[in-house]
Amino acid sequence: MPDLTPVLARRITVLGSTGSIGVSTLDVIGYARKFYGAEVLPVEALTAHSNVKELAAQARKIKPRFAVIGDSDRYAELKAALAGTGIEAAAGRKAVIEAAAHPSDTVMVAIMGAAALEPALAAVARGTTVALANKECVVAAGSVFCRALALSKSDVIPVDSEHNAIFQVFRAADHDEVEKVTLTASGGPFRDWTLERMRSATPAEAVAHPNWSMGAKISVDSATLMNKGLELIEAHFLFALPAEKLDVVVHPQSIVHCLVSYADGSTLAHLSAPDMRTPIAHALAWPRRISSPSRKLDLPQVAQLTFQAPDHERFRCLKLALECLRRGGVSPTVLNAANEIAVEAFLQGRIGFLDIPRVVETTLDECPDANVEAESLEGVLAADERARVLARAVCRRMMV
Ligand SMILES: NC(=O)c1ccc[n+]([C@@H]2O[C@H](COP(=O)([O-])OP(=O)(O)OC[C@H]3O[C@@H](n4cnc5c(N)ncnc54)[C@H](OP(=O)(O)O)[C@@H]3O)[C@@H](O)[C@H]2O)c1
Repeated sequence: MPDLTPVLARRITVLGSTGSIGVSTLDVIGYARKFYGAEVLPVEALTAHSNVKELAAQARKIKPRFAVIGDSDRYAELKAALAGTGIEAAAGRKAVIEAAAHPSDTVMVAIMGAAALEPALAAVARGTTVALANKECVVAAGSVFCRALALSKSDVIPVDSEHNAIFQVFRAADHDEVEKVTLTASGGPFRDWTLERMRSATPAEAVAHPNWSMGAKISVDSATLMNKGLELIEAHFLFALPAEKLDVVVHPQSIVHCLVSYADGSTLAHLSAPDMRTPIAHALAWPRRISSPSRKLDLPQVAQLTFQAPDHERFRCLKLALECLRRGGVSPTVLNAANEIAVEAFLQGRIGFLDIPRVVETTLDECPDANVEAESLEGVLAADERARVLARAVCRRMMV
């Protein structure tokens, strides 16, 4: 038996513990404690944004040293919910960033949206291992994030299933011999819908993903295929791959997560059942492997693996993301910010499903400096804020 003691002694912080990835992370930790011993994978801090009830319940079970709620108005509620546990409570945006900077061996970044950027950078600055589920922070601040990474001792282990898959089959040493890296997309709930039918798609239909159980925002991103667009940009920055070497193929079964094709004609693929606990367990134990509660692959049961080209006309968000990847500057920042605003408006019933790409495209068109690179975090945050203001105005014009 390999000695997993150093891996299992790792102290973990989970940012965004009440979300879909956060809950799955705690499930992996809970399983490891049953499998290897109650003391393994001690937890330093858990953070959430507003869900005090779930955060307190998690903290009572998993016993972190700190529990942090982003919404500062909920501090008293959290403190009361943790009374008698000895777990320290904190609140506010700064406290979430500080949680990432507390001593720990691995920080799981599972906050939704660009709000993860500053906490992720705080973890990178500390030189700890970053298990990166959040993709928006890499999309919004790719160059700034990569520069910070180059200056730190941090290892980033991608948790997004496709990037975790690339990380596992792509050898950096073979970088020049790689001809293509292909990300797979399930195609989402509207894969076979006509544009006419998509026009009246409801939020409930958009979040009903056929293969994955995820938070509302990423579920809508999967339905528009913006998720795959964001992932192409994420792959570009994380693996230093130019747009020409990145590709997407629709694979409805979500079993193959990436394909890496080499100059000699070999293509290496990564397969697993669609269960985020697999990449989470991989990221927590890397470079070793631990037992996890994830569903295991049963190929005879899957029976068929099929692939088709994506439809860029019905799924214009993918096309827009590809354009931003080629354009550079802060256009990915603008794309991401406008998309976050548009998805929120769609989920609140203020705009229609097909308005999402329209809001993103109009915001990009109306943003005068989208082609200009931001040299600093402040520049990225300013571009992000300007794009959000513009996108909110575009949404108001389109309101249903
Ligand atoms: N879900 C998946 O299967 C999956 C797969 C690949 C990648 N990802 C990526 O992982 C990230 C998380 O996705 P998810 O589906 O787990 O999201 P989610 O279910 O919506 O959970 C988001 C988490 O972030 C917290 N949060 C939200 N806004 C925040 C803010 N402004 N400041 C601090 N914390 C905030 C939430 O707290 P409250 O609960 O208190 O609101 C919650 O804990 C996203 O970037 C997504 O693209 C997810």
